[in-house]
Amino acid sequence: MTDRTYRIGLIRGDGIGPEVVAEALRVLDVVSAAEGFRLDTTDFDLGAERYLRSSEVLPPSVLEEIQILDAVLLGAVGDPRVPPGVLEIGLLLRLRQELDLYVNLRPSRLYEGVPSALATAGPDDLNLTIVRENTEGLYAGKGEVTLSGPHEELATEISMNTTKAVRRITEFAFDLAAREGRSVTMVHKVNVLERAGSLWQRAFREVAAEYPDVPTAYQHVDATALLLVTQPRRFQVIVTDNLFGDILSDLAAGLVGGMGYVGSGNIHPGALSVFEPVHGSAPDIAGTGKANPIGAVISAGLMLAHLGETAGAARVEAAVASVAGKVAGSEVNTRQVGEWLAEAAG
Ligand code: IPM
Ligand code: MG
Repeated sequence: MTDRTYRIGLIRGDGIGPEVVAEALRVLDVVSAAEGFRLDTTDFDLGAERYLRSSEVLPPSVLEEIQILDAVLLGAVGDPRVPPGVLEIGLLLRLRQELDLYVNLRPSRLYEGVPSALATAGPDDLNLTIVRENTEGLYAGKGEVTLSGPHEELATEISMNTTKAVRRITEFAFDLAAREGRSVTMVHKVNVLERAGSLWQRAFREVAAEYPDVPTAYQHVDATALLLVTQPRRFQVIVTDNLFGDILSDLAAGLVGGMGYVGSGNIHPGALSVFEPVHGSAPDIAGTGKANPIGAVISAGLMLAHLGETAGAARVEAAVASVAGKVAGSEVNTRQVGEWLAEAAG
């Protein structure tokens, strides 16, 4: 294998997952040929079908095979025949934890020609990246249900916040902002969540001191929800806790055309990472050819950036920017959009 061959795992998954991954691969084929690198792909049969067939979600042997790859491209998982949580927790959250994918990178950019939910917004108003802590907070799975009587349940969900995790996510956000000449806003709720909030604030201040050229700001999460709608230009890079990032990234997606227009990376810098569109498996439109592959293609571009294929990543981004407006104007045809993107990326 040459230096520039990458081992890529494919978890095409459920619903529209396989359809959008096929288009991402179409674009990657063109870009790898143009840039002279190779992607050596392996399919992993994971998701609803596997679970329904064998009750397996992520068997240890499969996790081992995944661990030796360079990156994973994931379509979507979820199926109405599988109880809620089984695949989300057993596959998505488990991969994030097992592989220590501590960055959830979620850019939201309003492309030319795509209508925003904000009537007056244009591409200059909305180009922000949410850097979501991806391993702790309320997603750490800590908590319990205790019973003090027949109808007296107490359910607790504990938010875990370690200096180590908060520092490393904050460093990632500052690195990104420094590279792109952008500002970093920390989003939390320090007026109520005093303990975790003060840990986040201290880490943020310490890391900020190492990046004197990066402008910084702080906003409470509730105010951020308002400001994203009223003054989205304020935000460039947002660094925030796991659940806040989950919620705000859906809001941001809504502002740039919807879930079809955003991609994401679950990243451990310098190591195996998983790239997936932010949308789910959309079983209602699976097989109709109406799924928007743009989120999967953006995710594939983030994967190339992670692998160090910067020129390839830029090609993908430019292709998306040139095609997105055309997609927004018409009924989506998954394959057609993939072909437009592949042509634009060549
Ligand atoms: C996301 C999703 C997941 C999350 C779910 C499916 C577990 O909403 O990637 O944002 O909450 O992280
Ligand atoms: Mg979410």
